[in-house]
Amino acid sequence: MVKSQTIFVCSNCQHKTPRWQGKCPNCGQWNTLEEQVQLSSKTAYSGVAVKPVDLSGVEISMHERIKTGIGEFDEVVGGGVVPGSLVLLGGDPGIGKSTLALQLSMNVDAEVLYVSGEESVSQIKLRADRINKNHRLNVLAETSLDAILSAIEAQKPELVIIDSIQTMYLEQASGVAGGVAQVTSAVQQIMRAAKQNHISFIIIGHVTKEGYLAGPKTLEHMVDTVLYLEGERFAAFRILRCVKNRFGTTNEVGVFEMAGGGLVEVKNPSQLFLGEDSIEASGNVITGIMEGSRALLLEIQALTSSSSFGYPKRTTAGFDNNRLQLLAAILSKRAGLNLSNHDIYVNVVGGIKIDEPAADLAVALAIVSSIKDSVIKNTVVIGELGLSGEVRFVPNLEKRIKEAEKLGFTEIICPRNKISYKGKIKIHQVKTLAEALKYI
Ligand code: TYD
Ligand code: MG
Repeated sequence: MVKSQTIFVCSNCQHKTPRWQGKCPNCGQWNTLEEQVQLSSKTAYSGVAVKPVDLSGVEISMHERIKTGIGEFDEVVGGGVVPGSLVLLGGDPGIGKSTLALQLSMNVDAEVLYVSGEESVSQIKLRADRINKNHRLNVLAETSLDAILSAIEAQKPELVIIDSIQTMYLEQASGVAGGVAQVTSAVQQIMRAAKQNHISFIIIGHVTKEGYLAGPKTLEHMVDTVLYLEGERFAAFRILRCVKNRFGTTNEVGVFEMAGGGLVEVKNPSQLFLGEDSIEASGNVITGIMEGSRALLLEIQALTSSSSFGYPKRTTAGFDNNRLQLLAAILSKRAGLNLSNHDIYVNVVGGIKIDEPAADLAVALAIVSSIKDSVIKNTVVIGELGLSGEVRFVPNLEKRIKEAEKLGFTEIICPRNKISYKGKIKIHQVKTLAEALKYI
């Protein structure tokens, strides 16, 4: 006789415990432990033996990717949406997920069904009118996933937008809409519909306070592509980033600007961030960072003022505060700058967050520029700073230099990467922070 054993498995993180508990000891979610019967080891397998196939003999039925009509979006997903695939689009509330999805459905050259569980048909119409007056689009304002999937079965559109997965409700699943059980079952049902009928789905998902997609982590494993729409809510630009892609790379990003008539693709993002409103003042330095495979020029501003209290302030916006502390220490030790009686404020213009060390040297020079009250003009500064004051290599230096040339800069201070660039820009390759300081 086969002995069986009961265990409890968390539906969120798959953690197993021998006893039922209200809260999963691993991921901390409540009410997610479900009973499972486990057969004891070494039993006779009851399934019918299945045969593996030789991969070389497999024929691929290639379906053309669906071009969404929004170039930046297509590029990010790897050249259009693959038929029958599931794309998850996450982002903070109010960032523009619904706007992007609606715009995409009005532009795409395929039969689309736009399903919204968050807005009424007339609300969708209002938004659609703002974006494009002459449009035709099938919309469904509904939260019952059974009803929606029946409609999809009957209508067989090529692309379906689900806004959002947290509002969808399945009769046969337990829990409240947006809960772990509901979301998991909903995506399972959607996946079945997608693979059976070769329908692509773009599913909008909410994110938590910490910036992760709400709901079970398994959600991200289930879908083919995960996209995030990011940006500061009160700044105009939005960045579309791909964090998982079964049908392409994850290093492309799309840049948009939120305008009166929806999201507008930004073909030359550097221009947007540098803008016409920057002025020549001490403390302002331009740097080049990478966003995916594209170089992007950004303005970094530093302001120093003598501190009135014993402990000097270090305040940042768009730049890591610990990194600033580290750079301040390098500046005092390696450049002999006394910063102990200076407050330092660093700001990245445009609301972008820099998480690349390649901006180190620019931040350091911005601080020096502010302290010495000397203006750094027409120069782009690139390089990572090491603790001993050495300027370290950065990847894709040539791309950054080309971007600087495109925008009319005349000089570059950068590390000693091997480069084959021959152009108009004067390049100062430096080995140390002290060397870089000679140029300003
Ligand atoms: P929305 O797409 O509703 O965000 P999400 O679905 O991610 O929650 O975005 C709404 C914001 O975008 C809202 O604050 C207003 C702004 N917006 C514009 O600035 N211009 C427009 O043309 C549209 C449609 C929205
Ligand atoms: Mg929305």
